[in-house]
Amino acid sequence: MAVAPGTARQENPLAEGLALRPSPDPCALVIFGASGDLAHRKLLPALYALALRRLLPSRFAIVGVARTAATDESFREDMKAAVQEHARDPFRQDVWAKLAASLHYVATDFADAGGEDALHRLLERLDQERGLGGNRVYYLAVPPPAVSPIVDALGRRRDGRGWTRLIVEKPFGHDLASARALTAKLRACFAEEEIFRIDHYLGKETVQNLLALRFANGIFEPIWNRQFVDHVQITVAESIGIEGRAGYYEQAGAIRDIFQNHLLQLLALTAMEPPIDFTAESVRNEKVKVLRALRTPGPRSVVRGQYGRGFVEGVEVPAYREEEGVAPDSITETYVAAKLYVDNWRWADTPFYVRMGKRLARRETTIAIQFKRAPHPPFEEIAAEGLRPNVLLVHVQPDEGVSLAIGAKVPGQGMTIRTVHMDFLYGGAFRTGMPEAYERLILDTLLGDSTLFTRTDEVEEQWSLVDAIVAAWQRDRPAFPNYAAGTWGPPSADDLMHRDGRSWRRH
Ligand SMILES: NC(=O)c1ccc[n+]([C@@H]2O[C@H](COP(=O)([O-])OP(=O)(O)OC[C@H]3O[C@@H](n4cnc5c(N)ncnc54)[C@H](OP(=O)(O)O)[C@@H]3O)[C@@H](O)[C@H]2O)c1
Repeated sequence: MAVAPGTARQENPLAEGLALRPSPDPCALVIFGASGDLAHRKLLPALYALALRRLLPSRFAIVGVARTAATDESFREDMKAAVQEHARDPFRQDVWAKLAASLHYVATDFADAGGEDALHRLLERLDQERGLGGNRVYYLAVPPPAVSPIVDALGRRRDGRGWTRLIVEKPFGHDLASARALTAKLRACFAEEEIFRIDHYLGKETVQNLLALRFANGIFEPIWNRQFVDHVQITVAESIGIEGRAGYYEQAGAIRDIFQNHLLQLLALTAMEPPIDFTAESVRNEKVKVLRALRTPGPRSVVRGQYGRGFVEGVEVPAYREEEGVAPDSITETYVAAKLYVDNWRWADTPFYVRMGKRLARRETTIAIQFKRAPHPPFEEIAAEGLRPNVLLVHVQPDEGVSLAIGAKVPGQGMTIRTVHMDFLYGGAFRTGMPEAYERLILDTLLGDSTLFTRTDEVEEQWSLVDAIVAAWQRDRPAFPNYAAGTWGPPSADDLMHRDGRSWRRH
């Protein structure tokens, strides 16, 4: 791998497998929304993990920005507590002390005239003191209405020194029109290559392993198509409810919260053609082709649901309509299942069944590739409990790994066949902690690698599909709630499969 000018390699025994990665240029990382949940639970713990592995630039500064009053000192204390509570590694005072020395805080409101002045002055000073060269990463960890004034102010202050990158959190718009408007707003000040739209699923190790599984192994690619695959099932199940975020969820629902981004990205990675290389543009070119090839499903191919009261892991939980902040007659969906088709040569007529929901029986994200049955089934009659077809199951979370279901002979006399599993579990194979998605995504941004970020054309294709589904929903009023919390969703989702002579994977 070529090393960009001005970058140096670091000795780093903790960075297993990353030894050949260049170290990022000096820069300042500005986190807007530094007093918020994301900064506390994910961003600072991720930065601590990178600091521990000595993956951050040698000359670096982190500037937290929010309206809440705080000083550098109180911000450092606050962030220290966040790291102690949420980091995946044991807390080390020496590592923290070094990271804390690079932390600063600016209390301001960018919506006010001159709201950006204090930040601008601090960055200028840090440039001089630390030699950051004017390089900036701006992380927009703020609610959507706060984005516009921040972007406008950043655009006004661009002076052509150093490089600039902008990380934008989800949600990226509410529909196609608003996503386009947001893109236009960002593009007025930033080039597409400078915009890093986060879909944190792409930062997960297991999602990246899907690419490794498919393209680093010769045995899968020849059978990864309509001739050998019967269908694909993708499940994004959460056992939690809306966790006090009714304001957001009432507007979003499962289709905007999960389907539009994480789920369609998982589908695109599963279905895409091999890219010619692993540069950001090649990978994203292949993903967007899949998204473009997705056929809009008819109303019979989409099921929506909303949970009623029930028991999740033995604890009684209220119905969605009883959650704080939710309208008592809300028709926001907390569950979606759909049958999708990718209309191209590889996948024509191969259904992709997808489902996602809240308050389901268990937290689980999986991609199951179900292969066609053996063409001539000599063992069918003697198989114990019926011989099941081969399934390659990618566990995205939890229990990260890959498992292949195969038929095997039961030991003893006679020829009894049973389905067994060949398992690869990350924890067992590598004996190393799994990095958090945000570690990878922050580091990639510092390095300027946008492979694991969503490009504007992908976002637009995703919204086009969602808009079409949501438009069809306007025609009737669903009878909600239609599934009990702690189950696997509404019965109509089972019917969606049964009509095709198939069923959702057993759990
Ligand atoms: N939390 C997560 O796990 C998560 C996951 C995925 C995506 N996201 C996205 O990340 C963003 C932040 O989420 P969050 O959970 O951290 O939200 P949050 O806890 O409500 O924090 C929002 C932050 O933005 C600041 N803020 C709010 N209104 C503002 C305004 N008008 N102008 C400037 N700053 C403002 C708040 O600080 P002050 O009030 O002090 O200004 C606070 O620091 C959202 O877009 C969310 O959808 C979050």
